[in-house]
Amino acid sequence: MVIEKLMVIGAGQMGSGIAQVAAQSGLRVILYDLQSEWIEKGLSMIQTNLARDVEKGRKSAEEMEVILGRIAPSTSLSDGKDADFVVEAVVENLQVKQDIMRQLDRICPPHTILASNTSSLPITEIASATNRPERVIGMHFMNPVPVMKLVEVIRGLATSDEVYSIVDELSSKMGKIPMEVNDFPGFVSNRILLPMVNEAIYCVYEGVAAPESVDEIMKLGMNHPMGPLALADFIGLDTCLSIMEVLHNGLGDSKYRPCPLLRKYVKAGWLGRKTGRGFYVYD
Ligand code: CAA
Ligand code: NAD
Repeated sequence: MVIEKLMVIGAGQMGSGIAQVAAQSGLRVILYDLQSEWIEKGLSMIQTNLARDVEKGRKSAEEMEVILGRIAPSTSLSDGKDADFVVEAVVENLQVKQDIMRQLDRICPPHTILASNTSSLPITEIASATNRPERVIGMHFMNPVPVMKLVEVIRGLATSDEVYSIVDELSSKMGKIPMEVNDFPGFVSNRILLPMVNEAIYCVYEGVAAPESVDEIMKLGMNHPMGPLALADFIGLDTCLSIMEVLHNGLGDSKYRPCPLLRKYVKAGWLGRKTGRGFYVYD
């Protein structure tokens, strides 16, 4: 099966990154969100990234225009009627993702593969909202998408071998390295990463050290490119909390309980970089 047209649902930080790498790999892309202003924000992030590539001599201005020209904005889910492949990257909420998959299942032709960029939710349950669970799969890109090499590819219970191979190939075409993972809460990446982030938040909550010190300790002492709290702000504190809840509920072990300070920040609307405030304040 040849993938020519790819639809991305959600034009936030992940959706816009996925749209960018898909367009760079030569695919025609439909970038969908609920409101055109959110799509414009996503497109402007893509434009900034590509302009930096042009500035650094990695792309010509003509190449940039060709890539941007491959991305069509959409606020109508029915544009999925001629997509070969859909990746959803909306909020980390099972009901919202199931609802979108249910609608896409009705709109898209039978050959269309429906992929989810979920960070932690069960692919099998997302697939159960459709009548094509064998064509539903997890395709978990890392943030920032244009930079990070990994794609975790998660098979749901019913995912076919054919669909797995197509996603494996598509990930490579997009310049990524696919790694196969089974369908368990948080997969591998976030089962390991998020408890560390949550523990860093506990260090602040319990007064062990200030956020700046926690981050410097992990950067200087462990050679992490970003401290865990700066990383949490970068991921989005709402997404971090959702992932910890999935780990806590899905694995049933109290070691995954989300830190109360994380809950408090999310309730306050301090979601990190995207709202201008989290553990740090952003312009
Ligand atoms: N979008 C696109 N490109 C970006 C970018 C972004 N948001 N942020 C940085 N870059 C690019 C820069 O342009 C730069 O590229 P060039 O030098 O080649 O032009 C390169 O990345 C390095 O950037 P900087 O020099 O500005 O800064 P840095 O060296 O500190 O690197 C970073 C930035 C790559 C983000 C680095 O800090 C890093 O790797 N941080 C950790 C990221 C990480 O752990 N990601 C995984 C998050 S968890 C996840 O994704 C899973 C989940 O489900 C939650
Ligand atoms: P984000 O908040 O930046 O973007 C989410 C986008 O989804 C927004 O533009 C919003 O308008 C849109 N949206 C919300 N509900 C929608 C709906 N019903 N229909 C269509 N669009 C809707 O979030 P993000 O960080 O891009 O995360 C998106 C997904 O990717 C989540 O499942 C998250 O867990 C996953 N993910 C996030 C990261 C990360 O580091 N942030 C990394 C890997 C995977």
